[in-house]
Amino acid sequence: MLHNLCKITPASRASLRPSLSIARVQLYSSFNPADQPRIRIGSTAPDFTADTTKGKVAFHDFLEKTKQWVVLFSHPADFTPVCTTELGAFSKLAPEFQKRNTTLFGLSTEGVESHNAWIKDIEDVTGGNPFSFPIIADPSKEVAFKYDMVSEDDFHKLKDQMVPTVRSVFIIDPSKKVRLIMTYPASTGRNSAEVLRVLDALQLTDSKGVVTPIDWSKGQDVIIPPTVSDADAKAKFGEFKTLKPYLRTTKDPQ
Ligand code: BEZ
Repeated sequence: MLHNLCKITPASRASLRPSLSIARVQLYSSFNPADQPRIRIGSTAPDFTADTTKGKVAFHDFLEKTKQWVVLFSHPADFTPVCTTELGAFSKLAPEFQKRNTTLFGLSTEGVESHNAWIKDIEDVTGGNPFSFPIIADPSKEVAFKYDMVSEDDFHKLKDQMVPTVRSVFIIDPSKKVRLIMTYPASTGRNSAEVLRVLDALQLTDSKGVVTPIDWSKGQDVIIPPTVSDADAKAKFGEFKTLKPYLRTTKDPQ
């Protein structure tokens, strides 16, 4: 079965990577399902403190101090092929995220030493492109638990063993609100351009009060929300097309 191809066991992890010293891991104090935050679009992103490849991060403090957007995304494990292609692609796109006042945070349940060793491979695979964004070390599995970044099977093993995270993506705005949630299985690599596309759409909605149609990308026509009257639409956007009274489009105002 396909999902068995994607099973990461402690033994398979060990065989894939250079030998690294094993730090003693303090597990998160509660893996009780009743204590797990229910995260929806619009929820306040759960707070956490964690080590990263760029030093310690206290998540809410980071958002308050930097006033940046964050793309927080998990991958199953370091030194695995699909994850290497994903982190390489996000690394190449990091300057685009930076232009949009956005920091990427990768995450897996391994330690900083493992992440740092793996970053060298990612840089090799991307032709020496320097890897610039932090990867969170979550061996306690606190962040994986709080953000529910695990499969059904692994959720029940959180307390007892090392588990891989699934491919979760959360876009979080500077006011700490969760704005987008995507979850992919371990077997399917994500689309880094799609993450950037949604970020553009969210930021455009916030700054210009428009919404975006199917397959929209930066520069294409946008939709004027039905809550805006024709008179206000004219004043705000100038020309617009009316396909239906509730479907009016105008040029990308950016
Ligand atoms: C990977 O290649 O990144 C991967 C594949 C299957 C399970 C976990 C990770």
